[in-house]
Amino acid sequence: MSRHVARATPPARAPVHASRPSELLAHRMYLDIDWLLPGRQVTLKVEGFNIAGSIKLRTALSMVEAAERRGQIGPGSSLVESSSGNLGLALAIICAERGYHFICVSDPKLSPSTARLIAATGAELIVVTEKDNQGGYLQTRLAKIKELLQARPNVYWTNQYGNPDNPLAHYGGTAVEMLADWEDITHVFVGAGTTGTLSGVGRYLREQRPQIHLWAVDAVGSVTFGGPGSSRRYPGLGTSVAALISKTCAFDGLVYVSDDRTADMLSRMWRKGLMFGPSTATVLAAVEQIGRHRPLGGRIVAISPDMADRYTDWMVP
Ligand SMILES: Cc1ncc(COP(=O)(O)O)c(C=O)c1O
Repeated sequence: MSRHVARATPPARAPVHASRPSELLAHRMYLDIDWLLPGRQVTLKVEGFNIAGSIKLRTALSMVEAAERRGQIGPGSSLVESSSGNLGLALAIICAERGYHFICVSDPKLSPSTARLIAATGAELIVVTEKDNQGGYLQTRLAKIKELLQARPNVYWTNQYGNPDNPLAHYGGTAVEMLADWEDITHVFVGAGTTGTLSGVGRYLREQRPQIHLWAVDAVGSVTFGGPGSSRRYPGLGTSVAALISKTCAFDGLVYVSDDRTADMLSRMWRKGLMFGPSTATVLAAVEQIGRHRPLGGRIVAISPDMADRYTDWMVP
């Protein structure tokens, strides 16, 4: 008679042994979603399983380590960044582990739990409250950074909106993994905030597999690709000032998703146990919007930037 050993969890894969918190990453995770477009292969590239809980850990590491290599920052340095939450937390963790002081400039859309985590690392958190003329806060956040840089000239601004090390994180990481892991990709959907992910993934796809159709996903009310600005409910995707790096980013199609569609998808997603954040819902809503009208064959890969746990404030009924 064979003896069975009960397993509470599936067998572990290769062990991860880190020497710093920021090295705790689980990058190559994918989830098939069979209910979104029946008969098509939709796969989510899940980026939220790391110590900072989002894809922004890649961006933060890339920008900080490049600045360290260039000698722009070192022991005792102070860094500043404007963030709607995820990059702020990723930088706060990296600065805490390396002994840098960090100032995070954010706005009222910052979720309270992310705000508490950022503050818990010892970072300084400044929340601007005045809306800009596009109905967002980005212009106000950037004005606050400029004011801080004048008052404290030795502070280093990572500047995710214009820093080439932002897209490089995805050109040399996110995209490389995706293509190495899947031979049959025909479509890729990427949400646009700073467009770091979109630009980096786009450049690598163009070089390596230009036949893949890259879709940029933006929120209605975002000005990134020239649309009229208006207020938006969710953080992460969309801008009220187009990021400098967005000017050179290349893609094949652009999909706008309304806040209501994001809310609807968020609710459907969570009720199926997909505990990802609102920008994942926006990207999946875009896949559905396009896939309903077009025969998207092959594998459709959508990038999921983060998890649901920081967004319970936006819990939909
Ligand atoms: C949750 C979430 N999704 C998507 C993005 C967009 O990523 P990117 O800035 O690379 O365009 C961000 C950026 O802040 C984010 O926080």
